[in-house]
Amino acid sequence: MSMRKPIIIGNWKMNGSMAFAKEFVSELNTLITSKACDIAICPPATLLNTLAEALKNTNIALGAQNVHFEEKGAFTGEISTGMLKECGVKYVILGHSERRKYFADSNADICKKVKSTIAANLIPVLCVGESLKEREEGNTEIHLHTELQECLQGIQHPENIIIAYEPLWAIGTGKTATPQEANETIGFIRRELAKIFSEEIAQKIRILYGGSMNAQNAKSLLDMPEIDGGLIGGVSLIVKDFVSVINSNN
Ligand code: PGA
Repeated sequence: MSMRKPIIIGNWKMNGSMAFAKEFVSELNTLITSKACDIAICPPATLLNTLAEALKNTNIALGAQNVHFEEKGAFTGEISTGMLKECGVKYVILGHSERRKYFADSNADICKKVKSTIAANLIPVLCVGESLKEREEGNTEIHLHTELQECLQGIQHPENIIIAYEPLWAIGTGKTATPQEANETIGFIRRELAKIFSEEIAQKIRILYGGSMNAQNAKSLLDMPEIDGGLIGGVSLIVKDFVSVINSNN
């Protein structure tokens, strides 16, 4: 039995509104029965304050979808860790595949973001994952090895980092990795973390699965020994389904 407490993180991506956020939280809070996991919602930045208010007196934490690595300055359009903290943020998703693909976030940038996030006492949720081509050509492990090495280079206090394993071919596609596939790959990631940090740290770090996780497949994934929770996209906007995923932890 692992000592790691599972966590379910909802990534709303560029979706939602103030009215939606308020209604979502009030419904979510009445439906959650499982206390077995941590829960967080990562809305667009414009909804952080609204959600912070709505999440008061709940066990649900607030997260952001990205951050800039500098503290302040002439970086039009960007948001710093200090600004996120002021909104009550606890977790920051970093290196999501959509940021890598559409906004050219590189491993080097992501590494700086991980460092700034830890320095601000926030918890990074670092996303890694291979493409379909890499999986089919047997290059999953080399891809993950490089991503982890480059994104985690020189990290001083890795204890609280969360890793999200999100195979690119499973994100938003309705295609999930099988529980065995996800468990095996997450086991590989944990062995890589042991090499980068230490076995002790690797056993502490929570590694999530993400990619088309839903009410139907959540339990079989979350029951696997290496899988410490989920990063949920589409389904995190459907309150009843999101609750089913949360309540699959028991
Ligand atoms: P999905 O997204 O659950 O819609 O596949 C997961 C993610 O992008 O984090």
